[in-house]
Amino acid sequence: MIRVGIIGLGFMGGVHLRNWQAVDGADVVAVCDANPITGAAKQGNIDASSDQLDLEGVAIYTDVAEMLAHENLDVVSIALPTHLHKAVSIQCLQAGVHVLCEKPMALSVADCDAMIAAASAAGKHLMVAHCIRFWPEYVWVKKAVESGEYGSVIAADFSRLTDAPAWADDSWLADPAKSGGIALDLHIHDLDFIQYLFGTPTTIRSVGIGHVQTQVDYGDGRAITATASWAMPRSFGFQMSFKIIFETAALVFDGSALKVYPSEGEPFTPEVAAGDGYKGEIEYFSGLLAGTNTKIIIPPEQARESVRMALETITP
Ligand SMILES: NC(=O)c1ccc[n+]([C@@H]2O[C@H](COP(=O)([O-])OP(=O)(O)OC[C@H]3O[C@@H](n4cnc5c(N)ncnc54)[C@H](O)[C@@H]3O)[C@@H](O)[C@H]2O)c1
Repeated sequence: MIRVGIIGLGFMGGVHLRNWQAVDGADVVAVCDANPITGAAKQGNIDASSDQLDLEGVAIYTDVAEMLAHENLDVVSIALPTHLHKAVSIQCLQAGVHVLCEKPMALSVADCDAMIAAASAAGKHLMVAHCIRFWPEYVWVKKAVESGEYGSVIAADFSRLTDAPAWADDSWLADPAKSGGIALDLHIHDLDFIQYLFGTPTTIRSVGIGHVQTQVDYGDGRAITATASWAMPRSFGFQMSFKIIFETAALVFDGSALKVYPSEGEPFTPEVAAGDGYKGEIEYFSGLLAGTNTKIIIPPEQARESVRMALETITP
């Protein structure tokens, strides 16, 4: 059994808890949160959590060092406010524990470097939870790009729209010194996926504050763009979507269904895997620890590159 601890039991901590508890061969033995744990799941921008957390038989801590000292953990999920990712990841790695850390990896490239060095010194896995790499419709796109089934990509546009975040009790998310603002908190999802598909870009240009449009340039004429918004009216809710134009087809995801428009033949909706990216990333990471997965899907160096790309969007 893989012994799992969850650090930070807010919105995403609840999502990690529920998904680890669903993994055969993993046992969530402890959670740690600086604030009182009520057992009620906190809600965020995506409806990904059940109402009530199952904490039966799970030890509860308020201090990370104490949890590490008592629980003999194999792995932790770190779902703390972003400004705490670096220090707590390093603390856990140095204690000999594998780390699955929420995105963004950290607030600066230098902090990411320190985390990578700690993982390497400890000989432990450090994975940043870029859930979009595991989101079924995006997984389908990655395969279509790699297989070349529809030719090369001519253009791609990714979008992630919602209202200004208000779900964190202490408003850490609204403080760019703690969250990195829209670039590191929201936009990074699509920038990371663009990097996953196409590699490191030559230049990045952005306009907008609160509603950011970014051109990710590979210097080869492809039009690759991404938009992130915290400026939508609350009544809009949350939507992630994309349009990818290949030589012989367009793939369109409207937030609920993926549709393929081939240049010849009728449009169709391909079958994608069930579940969401949170389920996918945790099943994958547990497989990595168990040795049943060996391919590294999110090298920490790529998570660092995504932080660099996101920071470029706010460089004046
Ligand atoms: N992958 C995604 O789709 C996604 C979605 C939302 C948030 N996130 C990321 O997840 C992380 C957490 O975001 P959230 O929305 O869950 O935040 P949150 O505010 O809901 O939860 C953070 C939790 O950490 C606890 N905490 C704060 N300081 C602590 C400390 N020193 N020790 C122990 N516990 C402490 C808080 O009490 C709170 O329960 C952020 O990095 C965010 O960017 C990812």
